Amino acid sequence: MWVFCSRTAVKVGMAKPCSLVKPCYLVKPVSATRVAGRYLSHQKGLPSLPVPPLQQTCQRYIAALEPIVEVDELRHTKQLLENFQKPGGVGERLQRGLEKRASNTENWLSDWWVQVAYLDYRMPVVVHSSPGLLLPRMNFSDKEGQIRFAARLIAGVLDFKTMIDNETLPVEYLGGKPLCMNQYYEVLSSCRIPGLKRDSIVNHAKSSSSPKHITVVHNFQFFVLDVYNSDGTPLTTDQLRVQLERICNSSPQPNVEPVGILTTLNRDTWGQAFINLIKDKTNKESVSAIQRSIFTLCLDGASPKVPDETYQSFAAIQMLHGGGVKWNSGNRWFDKTLQFIIGQDGMCGANYEHAPAEGPPIVALIDHVVEYTRKLELTQSSTTPLPAPKKLQFNITPEIKKDIEEAKHKMSLLAQDLDMRVMVFSHFGKNVPKEYKMSPDAFIQVALQLAYYRMYQHCCATYESASLRMFRLGRTDTIRSASSDSAAFVKAFDDPSKQNTEKVELMEKAVKSHRSYTNMAISGQAIDRHLLGLKLQAIEEQISIPDIFKDAAYAKALHYRLSTSQVPSKTDCLMCFGPVVPDGYGICYNPMNDHINFAVSSFNSCEETNGAHLAQAIEDGLLAMRTLLAQTPRAKL
Ligand code: COA
Repeated sequence: MWVFCSRTAVKVGMAKPCSLVKPCYLVKPVSATRVAGRYLSHQKGLPSLPVPPLQQTCQRYIAALEPIVEVDELRHTKQLLENFQKPGGVGERLQRGLEKRASNTENWLSDWWVQVAYLDYRMPVVVHSSPGLLLPRMNFSDKEGQIRFAARLIAGVLDFKTMIDNETLPVEYLGGKPLCMNQYYEVLSSCRIPGLKRDSIVNHAKSSSSPKHITVVHNFQFFVLDVYNSDGTPLTTDQLRVQLERICNSSPQPNVEPVGILTTLNRDTWGQAFINLIKDKTNKESVSAIQRSIFTLCLDGASPKVPDETYQSFAAIQMLHGGGVKWNSGNRWFDKTLQFIIGQDGMCGANYEHAPAEGPPIVALIDHVVEYTRKLELTQSSTTPLPAPKKLQFNITPEIKKDIEEAKHKMSLLAQDLDMRVMVFSHFGKNVPKEYKMSPDAFIQVALQLAYYRMYQHCCATYESASLRMFRLGRTDTIRSASSDSAAFVKAFDDPSKQNTEKVELMEKAVKSHRSYTNMAISGQAIDRHLLGLKLQAIEEQISIPDIFKDAAYAKALHYRLSTSQVPSKTDCLMCFGPVVPDGYGICYNPMNDHINFAVSSFNSCEETNGAHLAQAIEDGLLAMRTLLAQTPRAKL
């Protein structure tokens, strides 16, 4: 049974019950390791994630299925649900189990979530799980500019790290409520480790000897770069620049095996290859240095010349997967939680491994770094020469070479298959929906529904990430953007028998309905994580999986042809990710005040999808919705 989690489908029904009782992955329980301070007192004040009432979830689940399943299927599911929630039935038993779990844990969901959504997920992290993040093109166009910028970027990250280390990060708010800040403490000095059936995460940030180095990869060769002086002060940008030059000078050609490409493999295959790799002591030490490092900096080689109109799509691909082995996919370590990527032509961005955090904290860190790189710097260069950065050695046995060849081949196929379209919708941004007193996010989501319906003449299960960070250790739940109200609107929109006033009323209803689902989701009352929890509880109690989870409608509800997420930022950046089903789209957007950045992905191997057409349909849909509002005066409140 497939369960959609975190924009990825995972097989939870197959997990061994005992594996849920004793998770063997290594996410450190943060509350246990954090020293008492501002962070802890803030975290303690946050509410716990609630377990929604059973009947409420069952009712809302039926409502969510209405626009996406057939009448017969819906009738069948209603019967299953009646059975499930009858007094004394299995639903009540599982609900009690969940409530007990909630009273005994800091967050009843978060450990399960990391496990099933990420660590048990066996598809490659590249494209299928780890997002890319593209920054606006920076003002440099050669190797020297690349190195100068990289030095500033490192200094910017260290500046942010100081706030993390001192626990002085300003608390964030959503809708006036303070948010859980835990994810910020999970992204530096951490790394995913492949396993044979399940991965784990190590976080070295709080170990007694917290790491003082980053790893730099250039021409597929990895280096340890110590970024603090012996007195504990961070290296200045001048010092960093000199060290980066030394790295680049000592790795002028990509004449080594690209060991990093191994991290693009399917996780089980990589788990086995990892065992082969670290049998060698030198390799083991090199891998450990990468895992322990604060983050990885990828200094990419020169890019091909691409026309201006396709530049952003090309650059987004570099951030998402590196463009295949002939470009930069081997110049990465995709297990590393945070990798900054800098090209030679002003291209800049990041890739992050999703298990420890969502996009918004990563974007906040990057916003800070970009601001920092823009500051005029007063250099106070040290005169003491620094030791040369250490190159990490790898001994490549025939067996490892075979794994590398397999990874190269698979990565080439994946790179060929992934289509990415970046579209800057420049006609308006948040300003227009706000003018009409509508939630911009809901307006955009309704436009996505319209675009999809116009292409396919039906609605599909749609995922939008909703933050659960109002709760301690909260991650995400699902906003189901395809609703009965959005379906009524999209069906009416191109119907010549409908009046504009009616269409506008339907639009307003659809937008309001989306916003109210959002409010429900961010306050912990959405249905998806609750249903997942009930299912995992059944596995934990070793009872048979209830029929509602074996139902065709449940599979349909989790087959997200549209997997979407808003990731806003102060800088004009754009996050991107792959589709979560073979016949679907991944859509990430950053709504700025007067324009909206979209990244639309799909797979070339699927004949039914076409990213260029969908991007065009989104643009047309947004424009048509504004035209309708503008032409229908009563809509303007
Ligand atoms: N009239 C006028 N203005 C309105 C409005 C209305 N009816 N409704 C909302 N607005 C304003 C808001 O006040 C806000 O103003 P600001 O730009 O000054 O901040 C702005 O419009 C945006 O609000 P809205 O579009 O409704 O979205 P949001 O900021 O509340 O975000 C979610 C909605 C779902 C994206 C957010 O709640 C969330 O959960 N984000 C996390 C996403 C995530 O984790 N992604 C992970 C990806 S890995």
